[in-house]
Amino acid sequence: MRHPDVGEVPRSPTEIDMADQIPSPSCSILLIGGSLRANSVNTAVLQTARTLIPANAEAGIYAGLSGLPHFNPDLDRDPLLQAVGRLRAELRRADAVLFSTPEYAGSLPGSFKNLLDWTIGGVDGSLYRVPVGWVNPAAHGRAKGAYDALHTVLTMAGADIWPPACIAAPVPRDAIGADGLIADAAITDVIRGAVKALVDRIAERRRESKAL
Ligand SMILES: Cc1cc2nc3c(=O)[nH]c(=O)nc-3n(C[C@H](O)[C@H](O)[C@H](O)COP(=O)(O)O)c2cc1C
Repeated sequence: MRHPDVGEVPRSPTEIDMADQIPSPSCSILLIGGSLRANSVNTAVLQTARTLIPANAEAGIYAGLSGLPHFNPDLDRDPLLQAVGRLRAELRRADAVLFSTPEYAGSLPGSFKNLLDWTIGGVDGSLYRVPVGWVNPAAHGRAKGAYDALHTVLTMAGADIWPPACIAAPVPRDAIGADGLIADAAITDVIRGAVKALVDRIAERRRESKAL
């Protein structure tokens, strides 16, 4: 334990025991939504997911979708535009990504596909080998075109699409409270399951890389 003023301070046995019991975040999940709409159902899903994160993990919502420039390979070089640099920095920091997007015209919203285009290729801060999942909050059977397209794009990106974290959790608009969160236990249980599946996948991947 490092004291801010005096450097290294020996720990008492009690302190050591307590420190061992306090789980520190050991993995980080980035939550990325595909809607720019205020009162978005997909944003509510991600805000709710953030509250359901296990104690050994942390999660943050990516908030830069509306400020991303149109993808242009000519702009994909140093120095990167600030908004792109921020997106890639958040991806670099993340151990996994959870998506939630609406369907527009049978596919992904253009602005969200634009974000995904910035994550393709061998770039530092791409989705290559990153464990990913999604929560589809559309009514049962809806938004299949969007999630099929997301699957295609994530496959092209070389992401580690983790099936137990790719789930449907239909969210009626009236299930979202004034605080922007979903309280319905049947829905939150399913979202929690997706989050936990991603955390488990991160742990599994770490075990695999240690075994190599
Ligand atoms: C331009 C536009 C196109 C849409 N196209 C579809 C569609 O193809 N299939 C569908 O199920 N819903 C479609 N919808 C409905 C949205 O997916 C739905 O309202 C969703 O809940 C919006 O997500 P949000 O609340 O996170 O913004 C469309 C909505 C808009 C505005």
